[in-house]
This record gives sequence, structure tokens and C-alpha cells, in this order.
Amino acid sequence: MTKAIIINGGNSIKSRLTGIQQYIETLLEEQGICLEAIQVHQLPAQHLITANYASEAIANEIVKVGEADIVFFLTPIFKGSYTGILKTFIDLLPQKGLENKIAVPVAIGGSIAHLLALEYSLKPVLSILGATTIANPIYIVDSQVTRTENGFTLDEAAVNRIEKVLENVIPRKEFHVQ
Ligand SMILES: Cc1cc2nc3c(=O)[nH]c(=O)nc-3n(C[C@H](O)[C@H](O)[C@H](O)COP(=O)(O)O)c2cc1C
Repeated sequence: MTKAIIINGGNSIKSRLTGIQQYIETLLEEQGICLEAIQVHQLPAQHLITANYASEAIANEIVKVGEADIVFFLTPIFKGSYTGILKTFIDLLPQKGLENKIAVPVAIGGSIAHLLALEYSLKPVLSILGATTIANPIYIVDSQVTRTENGFTLDEAAVNRIEKVLENVIPRKEFHVQ
């Protein structure tokens, strides 16, 4: 069975990025894909910023990344790049920690101005980590995600973008949006 993991490099669970994460999770679960998720900002901060390889809490999460076939990297755009929060976790992955894996970069930004941020900031790092395939990035802007009483809704363009990328990364026999 295909295994996926979502690494969320946002700074708050209340972010619209969570709405994007939840939509991706729904699609993956519909396909019967085994799913794990990591909220990096909820891991021990001191261990992250000191790159503490001996941290048991972080080591447990690194093992889960190692077991996954598809790794989603979710981030808000901060100062034209992916977050430092996400980088603290990436820095603790093994040198070729993405070998034989598909990496999927996903970002939310306040505007379209930084559409290419994942191309020049995150994709080269995923490549250095040996990702076998790096999917086309998913870039969504704040105005495409609305907070509701029960959570979040995504507009049609955001939904279409996510589904198009997932169609290419999930083995064909497993992907069929209802
Ligand atoms: C410190 C900081 C820096 C940001 N820098 C950018 C940026 O350079 N480009 C951009 O499009 N959005 C930028 N934003 C906006 C966020 O990417 C994005 O709108 C946000 O994370 C999602 O909003 P929410 O978490 O309030 O839902 C920045 C936000 C913060 C807090």
C-alpha cells in the first residue's frame, strides 16, 4: 500500500494552510493511502533549532518520513521563501532522505507575487536530499481559502490545482476523484 506523509511547516494550526492540508488528506484517504502528518511547529523547538539529532521526539517523525513513498512539504510563503520552521526539520533528515520518494511542494502565499518561490527555494533542497521525483508545486493564495464555522473551504481553482498534481503523484490505479 502506498504511504504518504504531510510535513506542515506553518506557524499555526489555524492557518489557511491547514485547510489545504485537510483537503489533501481527504483525497489521499479516499484513495486508501496510508497517511501520516507532522506539524513541525509542535515539535520541541529547542531540538529543532539546535539540530539535535539525538532528539527522540524528532527521530520518531524522521522514521515516518523514511517509511513514506510520497512526502508533501507544506509551507506558507514567508519573505519570499518557504519557512525557517520547515527548514529546521528538513535539516534533520538524512543526507539522501528523499531517495526513492516523490516529493510534493505545496505553498500558500498572501499574493501571487511569489508564485515561483518554491521553484528557487524549496525544489533545489528536495533535489539535494535525493528526491526521485519532485512534483509540480501547488501554490495557492489566501483569497482561495475561506475560513468557515466548521473549518475551511477552497475555491474551484485551488481544488483543481491540488487534484491535478495528485493525479500525477498517486499511482494511477489508486487515483479516482469521486
Ligand atoms: C512573516 C510573514 C512573512 C510573509 N511573507 C510573505 C511573502 O513574502 N509573500 C507572500 O505572498 N506572502 C507572505 N506572507 C503571507 C503568508 O504567506 C500567508 O498569507 C499566510 O501564511 C497564510 O495566512 P494565514 O496563516 O493567516 O491563513 C507572509 C506572512 C508572514 C506572517
